[in-house]
Amino acid sequence: MNRCKIVIGGQFGDEGKGKLLDYLSENADISIRYNGGANAGHTVLVDGKKYAFHLFHSGILRPNTIGILGAGVVINLNSMFLEREDLMQKGIDDPLERTYFSEKAHITFTLHCHMDGLTGGDIGTTKQGIGPTYATKADRIGIRMGDLLKPDWSQRVIQFYDKYGAQLKHRENSIIIRNSCDTTIQLNSLDDMLQYDLNLISKYINQLRPRIINTVSFIEQNYNKSFLIEGANATLLDIDHGTYPYVTSSSCGAGGVLSGSGLSMKVLRDWYAETIGVFKIYVTRVGGGVLPTEMVEMDSEIGINVQTLGNEYGATTGRKRRCGWLDLVALKYSCMLNGYDYLNIAKVDILSFVPNLKTIKICTQYRNRETNEITDIFPSDEYELCRMEPIYSEFPIWDNPTQCKTWKDLPLALRTVIKFIEGYVGIPIKYINTGQDRNALIVRD
Ligand code: IMO
Ligand code: MG
Repeated sequence: MNRCKIVIGGQFGDEGKGKLLDYLSENADISIRYNGGANAGHTVLVDGKKYAFHLFHSGILRPNTIGILGAGVVINLNSMFLEREDLMQKGIDDPLERTYFSEKAHITFTLHCHMDGLTGGDIGTTKQGIGPTYATKADRIGIRMGDLLKPDWSQRVIQFYDKYGAQLKHRENSIIIRNSCDTTIQLNSLDDMLQYDLNLISKYINQLRPRIINTVSFIEQNYNKSFLIEGANATLLDIDHGTYPYVTSSSCGAGGVLSGSGLSMKVLRDWYAETIGVFKIYVTRVGGGVLPTEMVEMDSEIGINVQTLGNEYGATTGRKRRCGWLDLVALKYSCMLNGYDYLNIAKVDILSFVPNLKTIKICTQYRNRETNEITDIFPSDEYELCRMEPIYSEFPIWDNPTQCKTWKDLPLALRTVIKFIEGYVGIPIKYINTGQDRNALIVRD
């Protein structure tokens, strides 16, 4: 019997992972995040009330689901405590009391965020210190959650600031300290940042310590429970397999599951783990990097409508997301890479709301503008991707599907498109989001 579901973002992020995770967590005892940090923005709408999760797992609305932030996650303590406060103000029981951190997860300090503010501009990062934290991890100078269990934790943090600060001084000759990128705090020197982080940790250390555990043993002890594995960010933002360099700094795809959560292939087989890829009926991208099917020029009015109707604004940064037509070349690549057992299609209602839209486009191939060559292979290189012009098939638009409760209720035009996508990628679309609310979800047998 399947006891483990793995949810992965199939496109460029913001596909609606939060909604599926919230649904699946109803039957999950333990929810594990394996990658990313506070750059994630997973939104869940329940009875008109909106919740946005960044670091905490998306099952937090289910009081009995325990969350684990695995070794592959980076923990921005400042963001986490703000998120905790926000959730508690919305009436949610303390999420910290239902979360465990891997001793191995690295900590994002204020200095990491500051560096992200200085260097992340071209990529258009979320300024949550993600890239710099993974950089100091790879550089082997990072501080891990487990360090906070040691009596000399503050010495370790001071040493980290010494080492990282020295690297930065060396690199930039003299370090430029501007205001911290986090608007809630104004810190103007390395010492200020260090002091801020030490104070923050001192304030919360007694609450944090019991939550920091050896997650590998914890999972072993809870082997017979049911699990949900939560991917943050998305396949096309994966550090290895995404559109490098316009990517995030973690392994967002299936490859990250094992290292980031500390699970083995055998365990996943024993649990009959199922992988679900989430994608939207259109695509969006926020930050830098090319979006081959972007709704530009002639279609820009549609793009703006989709952006507004689909509320395509970042849950973490509030930035506008660029909108484009569904790209099956990219989605098929995502399917090959992650081996999804099922797909979840999201936001099928949004296109039906766009005024005067008679047909929708779906990209099935690319034409290379320079060589005229036609391909259905997603290129490994951003330079090549920039030269790809989408070749589209068109399909009639459908009526508003919001009230539909079963597959058979859905308008024929929508079912035709769903079947077309399934035929193209060869994977069943089991979950269909017909609206934002928790209940607007059709699950096919
Ligand atoms: P969820 O989990 C959309 C993008 C950023 C930027 C690039 C690198 O909500 O789907 P980073 O701060 O990670 O170094 O930024 O990656 N990005 C996301 N875009 N959804 C996300 O997460 C994202 N996480 C990172 O916009 O272009
Ligand atoms: Mg998001």
